[in-house]
Amino acid sequence: MKPVKVGILGLGTVGSGTFNVLKRNQKEILGRAGRRIEVAMVADRDVERAQSIVKGDCEVVADGYLLVNNPEIDIVVELIGGYTVAKDFVLKAIENGKHVVTANKALLAVHGNEIFEAAQKKKVIVAFEAAVAGGIPIIKALREGLTANRIEWIAGIINGTTNFILSGMRDKGLDFNTVLKDAQALGYAEADPTFDIEGIDAAHKATIMSAIAFGVPVQFDKAYVEGITKLESIDITYAEQLGYRIKLLGITKRMANGIELRVHPTLIPEKRLIANVEGAMNAVLVNSDAVGATLYYGKGAGSEPTASAVIADLVDIARVDTVNPEHRVPYLAFQPDAMNDTPILPITEVTTSYYLRMQVKDQPGVLADITRILADLSISIDAFLQKEPLEGETLVDIIILTHQTQEKNMNAAIEKIEQISTVMGKVTKIRLENLL
Ligand code: HSE
Repeated sequence: MKPVKVGILGLGTVGSGTFNVLKRNQKEILGRAGRRIEVAMVADRDVERAQSIVKGDCEVVADGYLLVNNPEIDIVVELIGGYTVAKDFVLKAIENGKHVVTANKALLAVHGNEIFEAAQKKKVIVAFEAAVAGGIPIIKALREGLTANRIEWIAGIINGTTNFILSGMRDKGLDFNTVLKDAQALGYAEADPTFDIEGIDAAHKATIMSAIAFGVPVQFDKAYVEGITKLESIDITYAEQLGYRIKLLGITKRMANGIELRVHPTLIPEKRLIANVEGAMNAVLVNSDAVGATLYYGKGAGSEPTASAVIADLVDIARVDTVNPEHRVPYLAFQPDAMNDTPILPITEVTTSYYLRMQVKDQPGVLADITRILADLSISIDAFLQKEPLEGETLVDIIILTHQTQEKNMNAAIEKIEQISTVMGKVTKIRLENLL
């Protein structure tokens, strides 16, 4: 059978990993795909650097349009990232009848619906295993492995940079900025680390998983996004004393009135496996009705781990191209006419448990005032911790863990607590998930 010809847009970390793994594991991949997967062209603005990687094995051009308009190429691998030029290249490739493999979570979370519609019309495949949790085959698990199930919720550590920072803050007692610099030096962080630390990268990935799990369009604009920049080391310490770890989780949940889609720092009981995912590793916990909880763990970033996912997509396309393309797996797991319009809920409608930290004057009646407010709003306390005042000080930290309540109810309680004259300053609120 004739080889499938691939063009790679962007020969950076993931692009060069893809090129190298394809070459190194050529025989194995041929055996699995049933036909050779050949890189015919690479487009990169830095032609010289790209040439030093491909070493004369394929043509290198600076202009991506030469690649997406090249009639020889069957599959375009988009590894440029971002929403702008990458979108134009992907749409052009589709228009030209080419299949697309992309690692671009930002592009799919924001413009996925338009891209999938275009691909559907042209009967080409857009594959994106590498867009979520790098080397972990979570898209395949959600779309295919779990296809018998009604998925209830997904909770994932899907940004390695922030997990690395949180691990460093907890283990070594280092501050946020010091660990961020380490993460950047190790190459985990996105070019603009804002996307990592503000939770945007995780929200892109959670948005894609939400669509696949619940059969709704991608709706990044409806996601609640809160990063780790405001998280204080003291809360990591107190959480630990209460038996919890704080992780940046991407959560999506099926509720009676809609779908929760949110990214925020979250307390998780330390005995959960996912609470022990450290450093730059990723993990996704999926709870479904038939199989129950399943956990997927691995490297969520990096050259060859992400290349592993890109090449899995290339092999899938190489195989599917030999059979009836109408029978392939739908982009968002559900057939286009089976998608639904269940709303994504605003964060005020979300139900979860909470960690509250406040500083109070150590005098009679303070606790009674606080607990009365919680009781009046039917918020039940799960655990309580009061620290001893430091020598010569009269202010103490109080930490309260609550049972589940709706976010708007909790916000109302906090507003009232902050008005008590013996409660000093703002109440720190961190969401808590028991995850089974
Ligand atoms: N910057 C991302 C992370 C990797 O830290 O996980 C690519 O998605």
